[in-house]
Amino acid sequence: MKNGTLYGVGVGPGDPGLITLKATKILKQVAVIFAAASTKNNYSLAAEIVSPHLKEGVPVEPLGFPMTRDKKRLATAWEKNGRIVVETLKKGKDAAFITLGDPLIYSTFGYIMRTIQKTYPDIPIKIIPGITSYQACAAAAGQILAEAEESFAVISGALGGERLKQVVDHMDCVAMLKVYHKHTEIMDALNELGLASGSILISRCGLDGEVILQGLKRGCNTPPPYLSLVLIKKTGRL
Ligand SMILES: C[S@@+](CC[C@H](N)C(=O)[O-])C[C@H]1O[C@@H](n2cnc3c(N)ncnc32)[C@H](O)[C@@H]1O
Repeated sequence: MKNGTLYGVGVGPGDPGLITLKATKILKQVAVIFAAASTKNNYSLAAEIVSPHLKEGVPVEPLGFPMTRDKKRLATAWEKNGRIVVETLKKGKDAAFITLGDPLIYSTFGYIMRTIQKTYPDIPIKIIPGITSYQACAAAAGQILAEAEESFAVISGALGGERLKQVVDHMDCVAMLKVYHKHTEIMDALNELGLASGSILISRCGLDGEVILQGLKRGCNTPPPYLSLVLIKKTGRL
């Protein structure tokens, strides 16, 4: 039997209007939808976003991924979830793995794709790009991400303030995702660099509780929600 195709589908960063026509078309064609979910509560915002676009009766299966940096636990979860996805594809059914924003930027889909490609190189995989969080946040804040000869980097906040200082040394504009964990350290680094007042923190863009904070201050110690990022521009330096 011919293997089904796995589609990695980006569903946009939250606003239900920011899902592409192509994504909605694929979601109506596939037999099963897989969504990464926290092992704590099985919740998936991506599943909520796609719900109006599904054929009746199409199952949405949450795949549990532990919120950990423990490489062994993560590898075990990717392999287990990869096998679950492959079971469907081996039956000749097409499936979609939905992901918040774009599937190729800080997404669990990348790990699943690599795990499946390694073990089952004959399974076709196609990717449907999505609008990223930083594009939507820049639009919401009216902030130009890069222009003219400026360089632009997308980085993770998981490595904190030191990483930011290294990157800012070489880049004109930065979008820093995953800032919730080390936000105090990141704020301190922005202040030290003289970039805080020109930076913008955007939380829950396009969702209930959206916050756009222009100009960040030292001592702003309330942890932002998980869905938060910072847009930084060197031209904002005082
Ligand atoms: C695992 S990454 C997912 C990135 C996603 N694949 C993309 O294309 O933007 C999660 C991070 O994306 C950012 N993010 C995603 N959705 C967001 C939203 N609606 N508002 C603000 N930040 C968001 C936050 O920095 C969050 O910690």
